Amino acid sequence: MSEADKPQSAQPAFTAPRHVAIIMDGNGRWAAARGLPRAEGHRRGVEALRRTIRSAGEIGIKIITIFSFSAENWSRPASEIGELMGLLRRFIRNDLAELHKSNVRVRIIGERDGLDPDIARLLTEAEELTKDNSGLTLVVAFNYGARQEIARAARRIAEEVAAGRMATADIGLETIGRFLDAPDLPDPDLIIRTSGEQRLSNFLLWQSAYSELVFVPTNWPDFDRATLEAAISEYQQRERRFGGLVAKTGS
Ligand code: IPE
Ligand code: IPE
Ligand code: MG
Repeated sequence: MSEADKPQSAQPAFTAPRHVAIIMDGNGRWAAARGLPRAEGHRRGVEALRRTIRSAGEIGIKIITIFSFSAENWSRPASEIGELMGLLRRFIRNDLAELHKSNVRVRIIGERDGLDPDIARLLTEAEELTKDNSGLTLVVAFNYGARQEIARAARRIAEEVAAGRMATADIGLETIGRFLDAPDLPDPDLIIRTSGEQRLSNFLLWQSAYSELVFVPTNWPDFDRATLEAAISEYQQRERRFGGLVAKTGS
């Protein structure tokens, strides 16, 4: 096949940011606009997620973190929570083998205690099966809240101090980072939120200190490679200064 005949989707248009995090929002509004139940919006959201994972790999993103269920989402009606849990179960059961075959490494952040045992088991299975994969890292933020994550870190650090393994004077920025849920991962370069809302909703508060934020009007079920590339293009126009004077080019 000649270069020109190769499918467009296989050719990244630019150097991608290393770590992109996405707040997948607007499933309910997508459904309401079509007179459909919210659950249908969530189902279509899973398809958008599949597309996005594929696109992220093709574009050359190394790590993609997705906000799939927040610690605060438990306040939704039981029926909707049931739908969301069902979708997660089905996503792992149906897609895990394919993700593994695509060399994707799955990581989970968020509170595991208190989850349904079968869900906790599926999350562990996804991590275990894919732990040696070297392709795209897919970080699923599930039952995740950033304040809760920081509180967990604080508790564990306090335990270290109480046990005499750490001195309070040694607790610094690096220490906090080390006790978060995925301490080895770099902070997100870019955080995208769909649906037009412009807030973080308790997502990656520590890690987003110097992330670039891009808000797109698209509801999550309509998100695709073009939307992702447009958000990355916007990111690449930004000057990242990290408090200094010299801008670092987005990459
Ligand atoms: C995102 O869509 C999915 C989750 C938060 C689990 P929403 O369900 O928040 O949809 P809207 O914001 O009500 O449109
Ligand atoms: C944030 O969206 C959580 C996820 C995308 C999983 P929400 O829809 O729950 O956020 P708020 O309530 O509008 O801030
Ligand atoms: Mg929402």
